[in-house]
Amino acid sequence: MSGALSIASMPDNEAPADRLAGILGAVHTQVDVTTFPDGETKVRIAAPTPRSILYCTLDHPNDKLAPLILAASALREGGAAEITLVAPYLCYMRQDCAFHQGEAVSQKVIAKVLSPWFDRIVTIEPHLHRTRRLELLFPGIRAQALSAASLLAELISGDDAGDSAILAGPDVEARAWTKAVAEKTRLPFLTLAKSRHGSRNVQVQLENERRFDSMNIYVIDDVISTGGTVIAAAELFRARGAESVEAIAVHALCRDADLDRIAAAGVRRIRSTDSIAHKTNAIAVAPLLGDALSRELDL
Ligand code: R5P
Repeated sequence: MSGALSIASMPDNEAPADRLAGILGAVHTQVDVTTFPDGETKVRIAAPTPRSILYCTLDHPNDKLAPLILAASALREGGAAEITLVAPYLCYMRQDCAFHQGEAVSQKVIAKVLSPWFDRIVTIEPHLHRTRRLELLFPGIRAQALSAASLLAELISGDDAGDSAILAGPDVEARAWTKAVAEKTRLPFLTLAKSRHGSRNVQVQLENERRFDSMNIYVIDDVISTGGTVIAAAELFRARGAESVEAIAVHALCRDADLDRIAAAGVRRIRSTDSIAHKTNAIAVAPLLGDALSRELDL
């Protein structure tokens, strides 16, 4: 499909959506969302183009999902023939099986909730573990999971980190993207073994007794949520002589109190992409999204 392209952004997504609109040459409008005294939501959109992008990152999703679906419905009713959801952070991906009897498999539920409203979904580093590919979750629509490895590598390369730097993935799921960043930066990498005993109770181990005297460690993860993982990794490396430990995450979900605990554990700096607006943001995702969407939409 060809023709004019517009981006409608949900509240709090205006700045990154504007950056993306600039790259794609698209018209950017904001979705007007108001809340009634009883908590229900009214959504109003500007007139859509036949090809429309709805931009909404999905941290704190319980508040965002209903307005998002109302907006998608309004776009369709208003004449959008093709709607792409750009959700740089895709929620509920971590609960990908029922870990205990009676639990909902949130990942599958959310995919089923979103699928009917969109023709395409584009996200960045969704937390896929047992589900290997995003397409398997969204069988009826086009689903694209973008790698942030090039963005993280560019940031690290800009540090001119030198021979003392080493990248660390804090768990086996982090191995693939740590390796991808390592290949692009030509830095060595290692992977820790993680065990989680509760939301904030995390332990990490290294299979050998290696020391890290004078080394600068970059802990690389997809998500920093409570900070427990980064803290455990920092404690391990500091105990083994590391000169410095810093963290880079694709998606920063942590609160100020978590940031304080991370700093107290000896992490000298945290940087993240702006997939979620956060005080640690240091990397814009718009070029990555723009590149993928230009090719996908044949712009
Ligand atoms: C887990 O597998 C993820 O890759 C992250 O390591 C995890 O979500 C981080 O969570 P937290 O900051 O709460 O340890």
